[in-house]
Amino acid sequence: MREIIMKPDLYKFETFKEFTEEFGLGKGDLILTTRPVYDNVIKQTLEGTDAAQALCVIQEDYGKGEPTEDMIGKIFDAVSYDSYDRVIAIGGGTIMDIGKLLVLKRPSTINDLFFKREPILREKKLIAIPTTCGTGSEVTKTSVAIVNDGMGGTTKLGLLDEDLIADTAVLIPEFIKSLPHQPFAESLIDALIHAVESYLSPDKATMTSDLFGEGAIKAILRALKAMQDGCDIKNEYAGELLTAACYAGIAFLQAGCGIIHGVSYPMSGKYFVTHGAANYVFFESAMRMYNETDPEGKIAQLRKMICEAFGTAGADADAKAFDTLFDAVTQLLPPKKMHEYGVKEEDIDLFTESVFANQMRLVDNAYIKMTPELVRRLYVESY
Ligand SMILES: [Fe+2]
Repeated sequence: MREIIMKPDLYKFETFKEFTEEFGLGKGDLILTTRPVYDNVIKQTLEGTDAAQALCVIQEDYGKGEPTEDMIGKIFDAVSYDSYDRVIAIGGGTIMDIGKLLVLKRPSTINDLFFKREPILREKKLIAIPTTCGTGSEVTKTSVAIVNDGMGGTTKLGLLDEDLIADTAVLIPEFIKSLPHQPFAESLIDALIHAVESYLSPDKATMTSDLFGEGAIKAILRALKAMQDGCDIKNEYAGELLTAACYAGIAFLQAGCGIIHGVSYPMSGKYFVTHGAANYVFFESAMRMYNETDPEGKIAQLRKMICEAFGTAGADADAKAFDTLFDAVTQLLPPKKMHEYGVKEEDIDLFTESVFANQMRLVDNAYIKMTPELVRRLYVESY
């Protein structure tokens, strides 16, 4: 099996200013970012420097929330393809995912690209700078968007190709410290899910994904324990958590995500629930289902990591490992059920069908064999 796919050069700077100087930002560069990131950090850093000549595109001017076909189309229309040579995507998953498309030869339509009617051809440079500690998208080959399904509705699809991997990933803790609590917490939970799903992958886990997955899990658990002990982890652990999220990205670049991402896609596609929040809805049910069905497999190692991080020991602590974990995760962010996002009961069957029609790569990568009955049970338990 191919072990190491680590394409981007990896850089770490304390501040955005250090990055702009090292990379000589300026004319020919396209900065894609969000309004809060621009207002809180980028604007004042660029002012009065050569870097201010870079073209700035603010996502919110073209649509809110996760990338949609419509939003991407509007950005393509607004930024002519020959006005830039390098894209600097500074944001969460949405920004990374759109940045990955801006460096491709322009397709006739976004829909053609996602339904693979046209090839992916990479032509420009991409620098990816995450501002959340979650997606790991700065090192992955995936771009996800909500696209028209051709039957009058919308669905969430992932485009996968090595031409989508950034040339350079840059980790800058300054961005994490300026995040509000909600996106910080949602993205951190998403990162933990990436690490866990790739660590538990039955067939695709490799020596590399195990190493990085375990590193990410341990670092995030350490931070959760520190949070319980009263630490402000967003400020005190920003650098470590950014690294952990990147490790989790490297792990799932090799081993892929699993059923938690699979079942969350139809819900976020239909009800526009943010990615981390949607995954979080199913996290606990999926882990408990896994643990019940195959407790002696690799999940036993995960329980051991939880006990070690939280300083518990013995058979009783092992049996309660997921109680320990979800107590801490709940303290970070109280969980929500599907109905709190407006999901209707009749969606459960539709979503189950959609998972088996569109997300088989994620179904097949689950820790246990997922049948339609088990997927339906996950939805019912999380409703
Ligand atoms: Fe994710």
